[in-house]
Amino acid sequence: MNRWRWLAGIALALGAAALISLVNSCSTLSRTVMAPPEIEGATFVGDRVCMDCHSNISRAFPASPHARLHLEQAGLTGQQGCEACHGPASKHVMVGGGRGKFIVNPGKDPAACFQCHLDTHAEFNLPQHHPVIEGKMNCVQCHDPHGISINAKMLLIRDNNLCLRCHAQTVSQGMGSIVQPGHIFIGKQDHTALLAHGACWSSGCHNAVHGSNINPYWFY
Ligand code: HEC
Ligand code: HEC
Ligand code: HEC
Ligand code: HEC
Ligand code: HEC
Repeated sequence: MNRWRWLAGIALALGAAALISLVNSCSTLSRTVMAPPEIEGATFVGDRVCMDCHSNISRAFPASPHARLHLEQAGLTGQQGCEACHGPASKHVMVGGGRGKFIVNPGKDPAACFQCHLDTHAEFNLPQHHPVIEGKMNCVQCHDPHGISINAKMLLIRDNNLCLRCHAQTVSQGMGSIVQPGHIFIGKQDHTALLAHGACWSSGCHNAVHGSNINPYWFY
């Protein structure tokens, strides 16, 4: 009888331990990557190793939010942000690096971002959205995954010029009394007075820049 109680006690304790590690992994989910890309036979080396050959990226990266990424299965004490996206790099480093040499380059594929950014994935699936899922544009046209700029939200450009890379801004020539000369148009909309309000996405206008449930101009 005692023996059974003892066994049951152990089973309970094991169950509790499993539960605790589950809860732990959930609470750190935003920082800890469960499934980085795989590279056969390669192991993790840590961010510092990349510095030797990719100093531009490596120097800027520690200030980026992505530097907080940590791989639970890597078994290293340092940071493994680089390998969270590029996969374990031991073989890449061993052969002296190079393109296509035992390393994953996610390129323009948003799937590489969606595996962690589930909320963003949902935004791009809303009825009105920037056509990222359709492959007409991609995350790295607006964001730098390495944070080499110091802009908020890892944006490539901090002001309206980000949007103007794709959305032409035209200045009206004037058409009788209908259109005044010197007015600034973006799309079909006169933006002359609006541009003073700040960045397109933080001015209280195109707030839902990834996508919106209802508004075709992504105001909310
Ligand atoms: C959040 C994911 C992510 C992290 C973290 C990340 N990268 Fe990248 N990296 C990318 C993506 C996406 C590209 C492709 C960008 C493109 O094609 O514009 C890329 C491209 C590169 C390239 C190729 C650049 C070129 O000239 O084509 C190098 C080298 C690189 N990363 C090194 C690093 C290093 C070193 C680190 C850590 C200091 C790092 N990356 C961290 C996502 C990441
Ligand atoms: C011994 C030097 C060396 C080290 C160390 C090194 N790399 Fe590279 N890597 C290169 C070279 C050379 C290239 C070719 C592209 C270039 O010249 O920029 C390259 C290319 C890449 C690419 C682009 C691959 C492609 O197919 O487009 C990525 C991504 C990358 N490295 C990531 C890393 C990461 C992450 C680390 C650290 C874990 C790392 N590298 C460490 C030398 C190195
Ligand atoms: C391995 C998981 C992972 C991948 C893959 C990943 N991210 Fe992130 N990203 C994070 C984490 C974690 C943060 C920091 C969130 C926090 O701590 O609040 C973050 C933050 C961001 C931020 C917000 C920065 C801020 O200041 O709020 C942007 C933008 C971003 N990521 C874009 C991307 C893009 C673009 C890609 C694909 C190239 C990508 N991420 C791939 C995990 C990831
Ligand atoms: C058209 C440009 C554009 C594209 C494409 C884009 N983003 Fe963004 N993203 C932004 C802007 C602008 C912000 C800042 C919004 C703010 O500050 O209110 C942002 C913010 C974010 C943030 C911070 C959290 C949030 O939602 O404010 C994350 C994470 C993010 N983007 C991830 C991604 C990923 C992943 C992709 C590709 C699947 C992507 N973005 C594509 C422009 C873009
Ligand atoms: C990389 C190119 C690119 C960038 C950068 C970009 N857009 Fe777009 N945008 C598009 C595409 C493509 C569409 C879809 C147009 C279509 O389907 O005809 C679009 C559509 C829109 C629409 C819907 C109305 C319309 O004209 O179709 C708005 C509003 C919009 N973008 C705002 C923004 C804002 C705000 C930014 C800056 C944060 C931005 N865009 C940055 C490519 C871009």
